[in-house]
Amino acid sequence: MTTTLITGANKGLGFETARRLVAAGHTVYLGSRDPERGHRAAEQLGARLVVLDVTDDASVAAAAKTVEADGGLDVLINNAGVEQRGAGNTVIGAADVTAAMMRDVFETNVFGVVRVTHAFLPLLQRSAAPVVVNVSSGLGSMAHVTDPAAPAYAYPGVAYPASKTTVNMITVQYAKAFPAMRINAVEPGYTATDLNGRTGTQTVEEGAEIIVRMAQIGPDGPTGGYFDAEGPLPW
Ligand SMILES: NC(=O)c1ccc[n+]([C@@H]2O[C@H](COP(=O)([O-])OP(=O)(O)OC[C@H]3O[C@@H](n4cnc5c(N)ncnc54)[C@H](OP(=O)(O)O)[C@@H]3O)[C@@H](O)[C@H]2O)c1
Repeated sequence: MTTTLITGANKGLGFETARRLVAAGHTVYLGSRDPERGHRAAEQLGARLVVLDVTDDASVAAAAKTVEADGGLDVLINNAGVEQRGAGNTVIGAADVTAAMMRDVFETNVFGVVRVTHAFLPLLQRSAAPVVVNVSSGLGSMAHVTDPAAPAYAYPGVAYPASKTTVNMITVQYAKAFPAMRINAVEPGYTATDLNGRTGTQTVEEGAEIIVRMAQIGPDGPTGGYFDAEGPLPW
């Protein structure tokens, strides 16, 4: 039996990933910072609610204690993420981004990943087949944002893509440090969720595909990689 924790799984890609992994037979801990939203989502899916705010040390420590007491963890999916937008759902570009905005985005997308991974490492190290999936973004690809032919080139935001490039670096460094684990970054693709005001062009079913796939790789699968549904992406 595989036990899986998904952060930020009360809606969007995390919720769809939870639905699919419950169907695949995983015992799923559905992470939600809001108990009420999390309770509704977990009940709907037959998942276990774990209240977890990735920006809060005490919340993450308590969640790790709960999961440990219940028997441990095999798969961690760092999915919780934010993209700050301005009025009218506009992306905040270089002229308007502030240090405080950067800090807010990094607190969830970057420090949240490290906070949660660090807290759950001892549990993962006791698993026979530990897996970590970091939900990054194609906007974190330096190769894509510097290529005028790539759609990511036109994205004007600063904080969000910088945070996801950092997630990619974190993924590589953790993968090298823990060769017994499969640790990868994934790009779901531009998906209609609350994160982008539902402007995404894919469904959550399509977006969750690569997250679900990388959550199910075995010990002979890749590690330290960056993938979308079509295969490896350039950093
Ligand atoms: N949608 C896309 O096009 C796209 C593309 C590439 C990558 N991604 C990535 O995919 C991941 C999921 O995003 P989504 O599109 O599914 O967005 P979403 O529908 O807005 O879901 C984001 C989830 O993260 C949770 N969250 C935010 N801050 C949190 C915190 N401090 N602690 C715990 N949970 C927190 C949210 O909880 P609340 O309900 O409490 O706010 C929500 O459950 C993110 O990492 C995002 O960057 C999305």
